[in-house]
Amino acid sequence: MQENLEQMDKDYVLHTYARNYTHFIKGENAKLYDEKGEDYIDFASGIAVCSVGHGNKRLANAICDQANKLIHTSNLYLIEHQAKLAKKLVELSGYDMRVFFANSGAEANEGALKIARKYGEVNGEIKRYQIITLESSFHGRTISTLKATAQSKMHNFFGPFPDGFVYAKDLQDVKNKVSNITCAVLLELVQGEGGITPFPKEEIQELANFLKEKDILLMIDEVQTGIYRSGELFASQVYGITPDVITTAKGLAGGVPIGAVLTRLKDIFAPSDHGSTFGGNFLSTRAGLEVLSILEEEKQSGALQSKIAYFSQKLQELKKEFGEIFTEEIGLGLMRGLRVKDLESLNKFLELSHKNRVLVLKSGKNTARFLPPLTITQEEMDEGFQRLKKALLEM
Ligand SMILES: Cc1ncc(COP(=O)(O)O)c(C=O)c1O
Repeated sequence: MQENLEQMDKDYVLHTYARNYTHFIKGENAKLYDEKGEDYIDFASGIAVCSVGHGNKRLANAICDQANKLIHTSNLYLIEHQAKLAKKLVELSGYDMRVFFANSGAEANEGALKIARKYGEVNGEIKRYQIITLESSFHGRTISTLKATAQSKMHNFFGPFPDGFVYAKDLQDVKNKVSNITCAVLLELVQGEGGITPFPKEEIQELANFLKEKDILLMIDEVQTGIYRSGELFASQVYGITPDVITTAKGLAGGVPIGAVLTRLKDIFAPSDHGSTFGGNFLSTRAGLEVLSILEEEKQSGALQSKIAYFSQKLQELKKEFGEIFTEEIGLGLMRGLRVKDLESLNKFLELSHKNRVLVLKSGKNTARFLPPLTITQEEMDEGFQRLKKALLEM
């Protein structure tokens, strides 16, 4: 069956991914099983999506129950779980905000960009439309979010792009790039595709104050850092800042497509300014509620913090033992990275990790990225690190 499927995929699906043809057919928490029954330790969570692991019974039951009752009505009518999920996001974050629901990270960021543009248009004497983003950022694959992504290699072929994006080298450079037509700054607190190094807390706080004084919106892309990956619901809380806009997606509904924009500008949009057919429907928001309820318990019980400490300690041990390959252990919460001395070694490490049945990701040119499910057990971590060690001994 595998060969047929593989060929079918090659013949009929557009080749946008450098796809590995391992064929997973089921999962249990941080373990995935392929067609031959081989188990893999998942240190990637479908790129930070499977926050409550695979085959989570509570999530599966909530989704099944909801699917049997009502999947979708449209946003023209009241959606119980959408209202409840918005309330929960606001209460758990402590941010006095309102929420718009979309279907993905890029779409959430599109919403944020529209908030920025409208804010710049209706506040101030002149129309302000410039949005500053950071080098090595990643904000999505739509035309606008691609332009917001300050990596020129991704801009080949797809222009012309919307106008009004300015790129800063680093946080300090953001200040240099601010002009009288700047309406917002959009950034990730830990760049998922840009090397996993958390920005320094004091520098972020200082920038937040600077932007506030200038009436420029601070918009934090928490598509990857959000939903307890940092140890808190949002990494913004770890940084002690109150952004004007937060976007999130990935882990929010544990694999059911969802995105969300939270903003303290509660009345920025009027009816028909923005919208989405699927965004915030019964199925995805019910899933989101169950995920938050599971993760809230993980956080309250102290389990999440212990997992973060243990995972980081294991990575540090690996770094120490294989100091000729790894140069640094970095990250925030369960979004962690090992800096590898060069790209060749990184690629070899990823290849051998897969061969030894551990899923690890890449970030930038020299970082191995680890995004395990937030429900991972100590046993699963131990097993994963044992296999990684074996992979490293083969290098
Ligand atoms: C920080 C960040 N922003 C935006 C996106 C885009 O999200 P999506 O692929 O759901 O559109 C991603 C995806 O990796 C991301 O990591």
